[in-house]
Amino acid sequence: MNYERLFKKQSLLERDIDKAMNILRRGLPTEKAMRSVSGYWKEGEKEVVIRFARARITNNRKKKIDNRLYFYPEDLRVATNSCVAEYRAKRMGRGVIADLCCGIGIQTIALGRVADRVMGIDKDERKIVFAGKNAERSGVKNILFSVGDAEEAGKLKADAYFCDPSRPISSSKRTLKEITPNIKYMVSLFRDIAIELPPQINRNMLNELPPHELEYISLNRKLNRLTAYFGRLRKSEVSAVTLPKNRVVRGRSRGIRKIYPPENFLLEIDPALSAAGLIHEIGLKDAKPCFFHKTWFFTSSKIRMDDECGGWLRAYRIVGVIKTGEESVRALIENVKDALHDSYKRVILRGDIEEGYYAIKRRIEELLAGEGTAHLFFVRQRMLIIAETLMP
Ligand SMILES: C[S@@+](CC[C@H](N)C(=O)[O-])C[C@H]1O[C@@H](n2cnc3c(N)ncnc32)[C@H](O)[C@@H]1O
Repeated sequence: MNYERLFKKQSLLERDIDKAMNILRRGLPTEKAMRSVSGYWKEGEKEVVIRFARARITNNRKKKIDNRLYFYPEDLRVATNSCVAEYRAKRMGRGVIADLCCGIGIQTIALGRVADRVMGIDKDERKIVFAGKNAERSGVKNILFSVGDAEEAGKLKADAYFCDPSRPISSSKRTLKEITPNIKYMVSLFRDIAIELPPQINRNMLNELPPHELEYISLNRKLNRLTAYFGRLRKSEVSAVTLPKNRVVRGRSRGIRKIYPPENFLLEIDPALSAAGLIHEIGLKDAKPCFFHKTWFFTSSKIRMDDECGGWLRAYRIVGVIKTGEESVRALIENVKDALHDSYKRVILRGDIEEGYYAIKRRIEELLAGEGTAHLFFVRQRMLIIAETLMP
């Protein structure tokens, strides 16, 4: 594909992406979108316009990156969220930074806004073309992009290095072996490097790497990224960052010895803090650790309104608990009806819902005639905790 030809007619390209987006958004067939674009485009180019349009439609919904940029749906899936990229660029700081697996350049552009000079490398030529165009559209001029293999970039001189490697989209067991370029080799080549890892990775697998800091980042209260910082980039053993609030906690990981059953209030702990093993850094009087449906909470019999603890906690008041033998979620719904009918209009289901999240949600909501939202925590299908949020 000759992307040069495509980008040369940028205003025509933009107009046609918009046209295709309008058609595809209405659920109309791809062929109709293809017919809507200019006759200037050759066969393969029309398909590219459609792919840009599809990717931008998804991004409009997810608000992951700047929608004026050029990316395919598969690029969007692995791209760094702009908010995360911005935070990390500030952490990487000034000087000369090399982004060794830059993809379409989201992290690289953010680095360029903070650093003095940035080098972006990727082995995929197409991504380097998009990254260059994206930097241009973002008005960032201090980045030099080139096609290359990160494992052969040992001679590249920079003050610090960043690497967001490729990994399989889904795999039950995260290992270092499935990541490319080879992480162990990369840390032997570059001392002051930050490397992205799958957030679910078992930490024992990282024992063979040189000393590093593990930084867990949550975005809108969902675990989003795990970055390992080596050399002078390391500041502590672990850290947790919650975005967009931009709060950081550092320390040493510690396990929780005792788990308590839920009392009147639940304080849901930000997943970055629990993944980092830094729950103990939140000093909260009378709050006891509590764990269910893969989530950590503090629980207590009373609560103060400042218990949000700097944005790391989300508070719920428990309004009811239904205990139910070994029944399925569907059977539980029948029990929920009486408890919720007059008080709530919407429900958010939490926990191991066996199937059909939206069907179950709809069925429950059809039975409700009140106002407000109830959170239903299904605890191993034997207990249902009904709660409402106190603080966002
Ligand atoms: C997860 S993506 C990076 C996404 C990027 N941070 C962004 O926001 O667009 C991983 C990238 O690593 C590149 N890659 C994998 N192995 C590489 C290697 N040995 N050398 C250079 N790039 C490599 C892939 O082509 C891919 O673009």
